[in-house]
Amino acid sequence: MENLKKKILDEVRKNIILDTHKLGVTGKEVHGCILSLASRDIIEYEKQERYLPEITEEGKDVLRNGSHEFAFYSSIPDTGLLVSDCASYTIGKAIAFKKGWVKKEGNRIFKARADVVDEIRAKLQDLGFLESKELEMLRKRKLLSTRKECYYIVRRGKNFDEACQDLETEITSQMVVENRIPNLKPFNFSTYGTAIEFGSLHPLKKMMREIKEIFLCLGFTEMDTSHYIDTAFWNFDVLFQSQSHPARSPSDTFYVNAKKEVPEVPKDYFDRVQRMHEAGGLGSVGHRSSWSPEEAMKLVLRTHTTSESARNLSRIAKGPFRPRKLFSIDKVFRNESADSTHLSEFHQIEGLIIGKGLRLEHLMGILEEFYVRMGLRKIKFKPAYNPYTEPSMEVFAYHEGMNTWMEVGNSGIFRPEMLRPMGFDEDVRVIAWGLSLERPAMIKYNIKNIKELLGHRVDIDFIRKTPICSFK
Ligand code: PHE
Repeated sequence: MENLKKKILDEVRKNIILDTHKLGVTGKEVHGCILSLASRDIIEYEKQERYLPEITEEGKDVLRNGSHEFAFYSSIPDTGLLVSDCASYTIGKAIAFKKGWVKKEGNRIFKARADVVDEIRAKLQDLGFLESKELEMLRKRKLLSTRKECYYIVRRGKNFDEACQDLETEITSQMVVENRIPNLKPFNFSTYGTAIEFGSLHPLKKMMREIKEIFLCLGFTEMDTSHYIDTAFWNFDVLFQSQSHPARSPSDTFYVNAKKEVPEVPKDYFDRVQRMHEAGGLGSVGHRSSWSPEEAMKLVLRTHTTSESARNLSRIAKGPFRPRKLFSIDKVFRNESADSTHLSEFHQIEGLIIGKGLRLEHLMGILEEFYVRMGLRKIKFKPAYNPYTEPSMEVFAYHEGMNTWMEVGNSGIFRPEMLRPMGFDEDVRVIAWGLSLERPAMIKYNIKNIKELLGHRVDIDFIRKTPICSFK
């Protein structure tokens, strides 16, 4: 582009008026340069159009073999041609008759003249000298077509002289050595520089950081949640979720078909969980149905991070009692059909507090505190059911912008059937919750469809442009 611009300016300087057709370049390239130069009043231009003749395939054939009529004429021997043998020369025959080149005698056709010249072919060979009438005739015979071409008549604009000075764009060491003051090109402060390529955090990651910050400020410790693949035992059984619970069916849960490296499970704890399911004890009647160890050892993609809470709790239960606050933010998987708010992969914000004398109001209090810090000031709780918590509450948050209540999570107090087999004393209470990360992220970044946030359709530019996440 710069080269072409320079060429245009050189030509205009030399010739005063330039017909860009003479530059030997056409089309968009010239157009771009002309517009750019004209926008800075370096040149003025008029756009012109012309129609250029182009020889068609049929025309090329005439150039090689002569016109139809000439080919017909030439094929006639002195003894003439039988009319019945001329069937293949329909066009050529008709024109040759019209021009008086041939005549018919009886059932034979003879040449009528000896001085015939193939002027059609001659015209095609010399298109530049033809008049428009002749061009039109060749076009009608489909030997020529016309192509539209744009070109520009270019004159000097009011800034022409300035632009033609060779302004320097940088100061070099040579200039300093020669003590030469360069004629510098002025800065253009109204143009953008080249966009800088940079890495950027995914908006969900930004959100996770902020949420992590909130929990850390509230004195929580982050849990290890490294088991994407886990046994049904940790995902369901330790949570006192009966083996016949519908959520365990493959229509809700992804089972993993791999035999190797099943995470190990402490034998004594495994037995206590089985006993709790089958027979109850420690104050519970259990599920009173048989419990299959094989079912428990099946591998699943974890459907919630409560499996990780359970694993962490069972470890903590072995040590001396101490109140604790734990949280995690990580990925979970469910066999959901995807729509604008659901994917089969999403994130949960999980948390729990271990203490004595903890009650429902503590749970409500901490969740309220958490959401206030996330900028959601109005929180509502709705009684719910979970196999592993009693009581249980769904959590709703009011979104001011959208003017609606939306479900943001689930919570409750872990049942003794879950905690006692781990080894916790009867008076130890654990309040816990599992909250959505994507919901608030969609609200925060004003995303209508979850596919714009997660998965292969996410626009890399969207990720680059999302602002930092701040709940203030
Ligand atoms: N595991 C629940 C879910 O996935 C959330 C939850 C966690 C509920 C802890 C109660 C206690 O919805």
